[in-house]
Amino acid sequence: MTTNGHMNGHSNGHSNGHNGHGNGYTSGDVSLRETSPGSSPGPLSPAHRAAYEADLRRQIEALKAQRHAIILAHNYQEGRIQDIADFVGDSLGLAQKAKATDAEVIVFAGVHFMAETAAMLCPDKTVLIPDTGAGCALADMVIPPQIRAWRKEHPNGVVVCYVNTAAAVKAECDYCVTSTNGIKVIEHIPADKEILFVPDYYLGSYLKAKTKRNIHLWKGYCPAHAAILPEQVDVLRERHPDAEFLMHPECGCTTKQMHLADAVLSTEGMVRHVERSPAREFIIATETGLMHRLQQTHPEKTFYAASEHAGCQYMQRNTLEKVLLSLSRMQHRVTVPPKIAARAVVPIERMLAIV
Ligand code: 13P
Ligand code: SF4
Repeated sequence: MTTNGHMNGHSNGHSNGHNGHGNGYTSGDVSLRETSPGSSPGPLSPAHRAAYEADLRRQIEALKAQRHAIILAHNYQEGRIQDIADFVGDSLGLAQKAKATDAEVIVFAGVHFMAETAAMLCPDKTVLIPDTGAGCALADMVIPPQIRAWRKEHPNGVVVCYVNTAAAVKAECDYCVTSTNGIKVIEHIPADKEILFVPDYYLGSYLKAKTKRNIHLWKGYCPAHAAILPEQVDVLRERHPDAEFLMHPECGCTTKQMHLADAVLSTEGMVRHVERSPAREFIIATETGLMHRLQQTHPEKTFYAASEHAGCQYMQRNTLEKVLLSLSRMQHRVTVPPKIAARAVVPIERMLAIV
């Protein structure tokens, strides 16, 4: 993939520095990070802060109209971005929205693999990411040659990838899943097939337990979700015995605590569950950005983050200031080379046809 025409994710072999897994198929590029431009102005009096924020929002709205643009934001984005976005959702919802929009420009406030997915689903639109450092450590944990080698070991295997993968990886796979639809997609695959699942070990373990299918697991993980420790969850559950415990399947604590969770859900699944549930309190085991969404939609309910440390440094690269820069400078364009896109879109479209 290329970002704003500056990088070639397929052959440069550079370490992207995200996580020690830099692999040349990166889902972002730290060398192009925005530093001071796009950062917050620092301490301001409440009145100045309010005026500053209002001015920022006004400029963004004006540019959006001028560019025929929409802002799609993932549930983990900072609250200021969520509040101005045209749509806030999970990986699946964002892909579906990108596909459906008739806007000319999509500012994708999320991470790189999500923007790539949008770019592949709507090649005639301009997809921008506010910060090129918004990659994904989990996505960087598998690269195309590894998939090809794994396939050789299991020639009849069906390769299923989590949407958290680079386009070049998706191009090697048969089906794509998100945390919302994994079970449905796996159940769609003929029962006699062995399945090779990349890259998330914990989501894969969850799908294996639920579907009872012969699934081989890659050993990737998300560092933000790995920061959620079972011991912390135990303490919270003891302190708040009436709270429902909702867990994202990327959680490192999944294998130990899956049976204790009231529900294992995608980020949007959690929002919908809270809407339906009569419970008043919830322990939320996922990246902390979701707390804003939950508090905004249900101010009458109480949410406890399973860990305050479960912040995603890649998601947090984007700021409202960088959304403004993105719209004013039309940066950073995310594109996928047509040959890769033609193959990578196949597992994505298969998934979208099932859900
Ligand atoms: P969902 O929002 O699809 O549940 O995904 C979580 C995530 O970690 C995306 O990187
Ligand atoms: Fe990737 Fe984890 Fe961040 Fe999601 S939360 S974007 S899986 S590093």
